[in-house]
Amino acid sequence: MRLGILVSGRGSNLEAVLDAGLRDIEPVVVISNRLDAPALEVAARHGVPAVVLRRSAFPDAGARDAAIGAALDDARADLALLAGYDQLLRATFFRAFRGRTINVHPSLLPAHGGPGMIGLEVHRSVIAAGDAETGVTIHEVTPDLDGGPILARARLPVQAGESAHALAARVLAEEHRLLVSTLARLAAIAPG
Ligand code: GRF
Repeated sequence: MRLGILVSGRGSNLEAVLDAGLRDIEPVVVISNRLDAPALEVAARHGVPAVVLRRSAFPDAGARDAAIGAALDDARADLALLAGYDQLLRATFFRAFRGRTINVHPSLLPAHGGPGMIGLEVHRSVIAAGDAETGVTIHEVTPDLDGGPILARARLPVQAGESAHALAARVLAEEHRLLVSTLARLAAIAPG
């Protein structure tokens, strides 16, 4: 399965996938919306070609998202993975890649998903709600933000008095595990 990965920041999920060296997954392109994303260094270290498509280089967000779809097509990607990609994708993207894009989210969706639920905000929301457990969700990406069909979830308990930072670190380690196992599963059931 040829995999395209969309990133905006740190790139630890990208690195987990590249380090895993999954037999049936071929990372073919990394696409970033930010020139300064550390994830671009991760891609370079692993020899995966990278493309930067900044919003400012396009007349509107729809044109940029069409270009993301075109870059995935150019790389003949079968599946797109959002690994810390921080922008909404418009209809122009879904025309090319609907049903072939997945995202990793650091909570048990639908809880703590949707607008504003990114980064530490997710974990602050979990703690503020007094939830006894949280986790990771991998889901299909649709125009409904964080609302697409769920492919995999992993649960972990929230510890008493735990800070959002500490919780984020434990959830992130679980993200890496679930992402690698889910990609292996998807590649194993992919046609031909
Ligand atoms: C992860 O927590 C992911 O779930 C969320 O953004 C974060 C990206 O981290 N969508 P990284 O760039 O993969 O380190």
